[in-house]
Amino acid sequence: MTPITHTGLFELLDITGDDAEECAALLATPPAEAVLRAMATMEERLGTFPLDSIQEDNADETVWIEALLRFSPTVHAYHLQLGISPEVSAASLADVGLQLRINRRVHGRFGLDTWGWLTLHMAGNLFRLGRLQFHLVRRPAETAQAGTPAADRRWVLGVHIPEDGGLSPASVDASFAEARLFFPGYFPDKPAAVATCDSWMLDPYLAERLPNSNIASFARRFTLDRCSDAPTDAVYFTFRQRGLQDLDKLPRETSLQRVVLERIDDGGTWHLGHGHLEL
Ligand SMILES: CC(C)(COP(=O)(O)OP(=O)(O)OC[C@H]1O[C@@H](n2cnc3c(N)ncnc32)[C@H](O)[C@@H]1OP(=O)(O)O)[C@@H](O)C(=O)NCCC(=O)NCCS
Repeated sequence: MTPITHTGLFELLDITGDDAEECAALLATPPAEAVLRAMATMEERLGTFPLDSIQEDNADETVWIEALLRFSPTVHAYHLQLGISPEVSAASLADVGLQLRINRRVHGRFGLDTWGWLTLHMAGNLFRLGRLQFHLVRRPAETAQAGTPAADRRWVLGVHIPEDGGLSPASVDASFAEARLFFPGYFPDKPAAVATCDSWMLDPYLAERLPNSNIASFARRFTLDRCSDAPTDAVYFTFRQRGLQDLDKLPRETSLQRVVLERIDDGGTWHLGHGHLEL
């Protein structure tokens, strides 16, 4: 395989502007031991369909950014080897560039506080198909029947919603339609009949307050199984702010911004909704 140049790599990962310069600087010197270790951890997981991301206490984000950059061509090659199109591979890996841009909005600097999330993409079982991302995994132990061994747990598609403009029902329909063909085509031995979603967007409070929104229409596709506390998620995804400090300084321009803040003003707590749908 021809090695991917910096420009090719940044195109593949949709890394732009100042982030491209910072990333080029990271690649200018040979990888440190810690980067090689991070890459080895990703290599071990590639093709093993892990459910969880890599977690590391006190991780050095720069180490992980460099490791993600250096490891991405291996994942791209793995996708192509499975017969997956370069376009789907690139759309899936473009989340690296998007997360770098989001990090700048959250923290005002180059970095990647969501590096762990991107280690899922690097395992080769998370794909962006149209508007949505799908993560092919075995059903988590807590939602399977008690005592079911890992190997017997059924396959499911975890659904994720990347930030990329509106979430029109038509774009969601198209994405699910693509997933229904894609996964049986490339992973016929891992049949998934159910898609799951764990998101602040499935908190029933949202659909009650914004019944005509795209978010509510998306949430209504899923049967809600349970909710769990997630006090900061709605604020993070609406305002790209970590934590609940200085809420009075946040804008209240859109209906979502108002709903998110007013619930907290009223002493309420945002939840994660955990739902599923039949594919
Ligand atoms: C999910 C998402 C794509 C929905 O966008 P959308 O299709 O525009 O949403 P809706 O049409 O349902 O929006 C309803 C209202 O909320 C507003 N809104 C939606 N997302 C918003 C956001 N991230 N920030 C501020 N306002 C937002 C809309 O502008 C609209 O306001 P209006 O009624 O005043 O016109 C968008 O919120 C987003 O990109 N979120 C970040 C990614 C995310 O949350 N992923 C899930 C992680 S678990």
